[in-house]
Amino acid sequence: MKRILIDLFFSSTLCFAVNAQNAKPLLPPGEKWKDDKGNFINAHGAGVLFYNGAYYLYGEIKKGKTRLVPNQSWEDYRVEAGGISCYSSKDLLHWKYQAIALAADKTDPLSDIHASKVIERPKVIYNERTKQFVMWMHIDKEDYSYAHAGVAVSSKPKGPYKYISSIRPNGQMSRDMTIFKDDNGKAYLIYASENNNTMQICLLSDDYLSPTKKYIRILENQRREAPAMFKHEGKYYLITSLCSGWDANPAGYAVADSVMGEWKQMGNPCLGKDSATTFHSQSTYVLPLDGKKGSFIFMADRWNKLDLEDSRYIWLLLHVNHGRVEINN
Ligand code: GAL
Repeated sequence: MKRILIDLFFSSTLCFAVNAQNAKPLLPPGEKWKDDKGNFINAHGAGVLFYNGAYYLYGEIKKGKTRLVPNQSWEDYRVEAGGISCYSSKDLLHWKYQAIALAADKTDPLSDIHASKVIERPKVIYNERTKQFVMWMHIDKEDYSYAHAGVAVSSKPKGPYKYISSIRPNGQMSRDMTIFKDDNGKAYLIYASENNNTMQICLLSDDYLSPTKKYIRILENQRREAPAMFKHEGKYYLITSLCSGWDANPAGYAVADSVMGEWKQMGNPCLGKDSATTFHSQSTYVLPLDGKKGSFIFMADRWNKLDLEDSRYIWLLLHVNHGRVEINN
């Protein structure tokens, strides 16, 4: 962890308030991280938007009692959907609570975003043309049979976001998902599909509000989820987890010359002790470190399935080393 602090400290464009003397990590992996108000950061399955000199963190609000949904063939532990939180930071270490970006609906049980539903893995991108912030997320029923991607918009990064609707892109199931916005402004929805057997990548419309007909199927029969995509030196990288519910498993990554493929699988990017469990966590996002080429933050969730509200976060430095992705604990 010493390394992440020192690397971040020397990052040219960011000013990090690091306790350099004893290099005490300010965001120690797996511990409780507090916001500016002293409350624990509640932003799971999170993503980050960099906009106008600030980082905005969006994540699932998990609050309340965890219960096991009965009659499921897998351990379907859940809490009421609490909506999506938003925090902001200039240095990636100190996080200011902003708002509930998207509130869960408390009144209409038929609403996609009713508290009884699943609202997971929110990701936000900015559309320069429409000047709108666009949030995509996984929308489901508590038994995960709905498998839709939901979309919401706002004119401000912190929201409030207006929920529009959800869809199965091109009729295809969409569960664990992420969004990737390329340098040319094109954006893609990446989602576990076909009952989690396949990952799909679908080009979004120019306003980012709907899927287009252009999509590909990748990692067929690999049962991958928790996708996180990033780009480095013209190549695209996709980190995913295996499919084992809230339990940790080995991450894997794939590489391609174009978002629309071909994708080649490369193996586990994690190195050293606990690499077989992704350091007891599951991928959610890869954040490019502004000003440090080839350095990224690998963001992951350390789920606590028996008490989901107490799930923790792991942010580790990720390097691309001669085309190979490396994540060290
Ligand atoms: C995981 C998934 C999480 C959540 C969970 C539910 O595999 O990555 O986002 O959906 O299953 O059990």
